[in-house]
Amino acid sequence: MSKIKVAIIGCGTIANSSHIPSYLKNDEVEIKYFCDIIPEKAAACVEKYGCGTAVVDYHDFLNDPDLDAVSVCTHNDFHSIISIDFMKAGKNVLCEKPAARILSEALEMQKVAHETGKILNIGVCNRFNTYVMKIKELIDNGELGEVYHVYASFRKHRSIPGIGGDFTIKAKSGGGALIDWGVHFLDLIMYCCGDPKPLTASGESFCKLGKDIKNYTYKSMWAEDTADMNGTFDVDDSVVGVVRTSGPVISFNGAWAQNVGKDEMFIDFMGDKSGIRLNYCSNFTLWSVKNGMLTETVVEAKETNMYQNEINDFIRCIKTGDHNQQYIDNAVLTSKIMQAIYDSSEIKKEITIQ
Ligand SMILES: NC(=O)c1ccc[n+]([C@@H]2O[C@H](COP(=O)([O-])OP(=O)(O)OC[C@H]3O[C@@H](n4cnc5c(N)ncnc54)[C@H](O)[C@@H]3O)[C@@H](O)[C@H]2O)c1
Repeated sequence: MSKIKVAIIGCGTIANSSHIPSYLKNDEVEIKYFCDIIPEKAAACVEKYGCGTAVVDYHDFLNDPDLDAVSVCTHNDFHSIISIDFMKAGKNVLCEKPAARILSEALEMQKVAHETGKILNIGVCNRFNTYVMKIKELIDNGELGEVYHVYASFRKHRSIPGIGGDFTIKAKSGGGALIDWGVHFLDLIMYCCGDPKPLTASGESFCKLGKDIKNYTYKSMWAEDTADMNGTFDVDDSVVGVVRTSGPVISFNGAWAQNVGKDEMFIDFMGDKSGIRLNYCSNFTLWSVKNGMLTETVVEAKETNMYQNEINDFIRCIKTGDHNQQYIDNAVLTSKIMQAIYDSSEIKKEITIQ
């Protein structure tokens, strides 16, 4: 059987660290194009991986009848436009998280996915994390009883990415800590809890520590090569929120930067039978009661590579037409929550989610 032909659009960090190596390890795939608006980045991939053709403008291969699918690995400002163009051209799409900058873009992506019948998966990779999948299984099997509240803490002392660059310009990214990190936390909570319907949200997003770029002092800065000390910072470096759903209440405290000293990255699932603390991207502890005794179990598992799982299952979906847990219909729920938090912060009121 002939291989699935894919193109990589945006040859930056996530493309090189996860999408490309995972496609290369899948025997059913051939990478046909590497595309980046910076020609050297596309050319470097052709050279490094020894396959494909380097292209600067994706329109040059948009209608290639031999192409089956694309990975959209650009910044958030191009997610919807590129995904929609390729679905309309009859291609399947794996688009990086967040689905889009704002809810209306994500809804348009969903509409085109439904109209064209093409696969549109969003790279919320934690849905393929071994521990996250195990927690979902425990919840589905009733081990936690009723999960009534889930609390997420995703906060770092001072760790704004690429300050002044793409990450911190709202017009390009759609937001800061919430849309960049919060999307992973909210989405994995939604997954574990069976993708409940979001009902209302109230929140506040803060733009405090990063706004004075020239005087911002930091502990660490990732994506530092994209920083611009004369650039813009108009996104949230910190955010809090409460979301009511048809399942549990979700609350969270998140930040790229807070003056808190110690970083925290965990999620607490509170059930009336048992509770779990998931250490983000790591193991989890289960607290319960057995024969009248309090129990504590640290769950360790042989981890598989979530990015490889994501790519393998995307290919499976292309071949079978199946919708998996990363399909746009699920991702849109998280987009609705994030939009409601930003809107609530702006109007200082709780938002009813449609
Ligand atoms: N799933 C994850 O764990 C994870 C991790 C990191 C980043 N991401 C997401 O991946 C996306 C990219 O992040 P990154 O850190 O790799 O960024 P990056 O800046 O390293 O790479 C983006 C690349 O896209 C290119 N590009 C921009 N517009 C383009 C266009 N119109 N056509 C072709 N190429 C274009 C840029 O030149 C750049 O090389 C973001 O949406 C981010 O949220 C996801």
